[in-house]
Amino acid sequence: MNGRIIRASAPGKLIVLGEHSVVFGKPALALAIDRRFRCDICPGSGILLNGAGISPRLHPHIDTILRRRNISDLRIETESRIPSGSGLGSSAALSAALIGAVRLMRGEACGEEALALEAFETEYEVQGRASPIDTSTSVHGGGVAVNCPEGLGTPIWHISKGGNSWTVSDIPVPEMTFVVGYTGIKAATGPLVQKVRKYKESNRFASDIIDEIGEVTRDGMRAVSNDDKDLLGELMTRDHKLLSILGVSCRELNKLVDASLEYSYGAKLTGSGGGGSMIALTDEPEKVCKAIALRGGEPFIVRTGAPGVCAEFCEL
Ligand code: MEV
Repeated sequence: MNGRIIRASAPGKLIVLGEHSVVFGKPALALAIDRRFRCDICPGSGILLNGAGISPRLHPHIDTILRRRNISDLRIETESRIPSGSGLGSSAALSAALIGAVRLMRGEACGEEALALEAFETEYEVQGRASPIDTSTSVHGGGVAVNCPEGLGTPIWHISKGGNSWTVSDIPVPEMTFVVGYTGIKAATGPLVQKVRKYKESNRFASDIIDEIGEVTRDGMRAVSNDDKDLLGELMTRDHKLLSILGVSCRELNKLVDASLEYSYGAKLTGSGGGGSMIALTDEPEKVCKAIALRGGEPFIVRTGAPGVCAEFCEL
């Protein structure tokens, strides 16, 4: 690509507490991380993604974004430091960045709220159901809490869909070190979200687990605002057990969580599970990395509090 293009990028995220139950309107807490998805776009003839065509099956988010906007002529080049299917918000970052770029190209409103809503609608359509936690975190950056107890965050927007509603807030988060352990197993979010929905619809016990994750998450948000890492870690580990009962963990994730606990305040799967990644909250990141690597995972230390989406014109 050369000439005048639009370059946009958005961060991945890690969910500290509350994945899956947030789909049913419960609280969740996520942090933007220093791994980004980047895209360059410019007008072209037909749709070209990194020099090739796109398919709805392989590129469901791009296909959905372009179809919803009747865009049939665009060149897109992408680069990502967020492995896809890793539970670290690769599709939300892609949606935030591409929507940000397209809005700028068309001279539309580029405010965070409009962008977060469109990215959420995209995710909802692709997954068949979704909460706004991933997309709002990619758009806004920093720390994002959904449906948090009053006084803990500053509300930034409100989204309702399918009988659920979510107040999305910016939440200040003290400096904390997280290690990510990637299992190397790609897991699509949609089927896991549907699995939990079916379980909840067929079993009263599943609803109780979802309510309990909501309680653990609310307590965790208070622990974050009190900078209480001991309590936060304990709640993360408890959340992992509850998510395992819901059926979204797997042997590889449990192995990495177990291996991390010796050197961590707590550890849990992050994102939709079924593979993907786990996170550990720790003051001994090197030791946790070693323990994860010894059990076959791919460890990396993340910096949290990354800035949200940005899009600008560039001359190449
Ligand atoms: C995936 O990162 C988080 C889930 O809660 C799905 C969602 O909130 O849309 C599993």
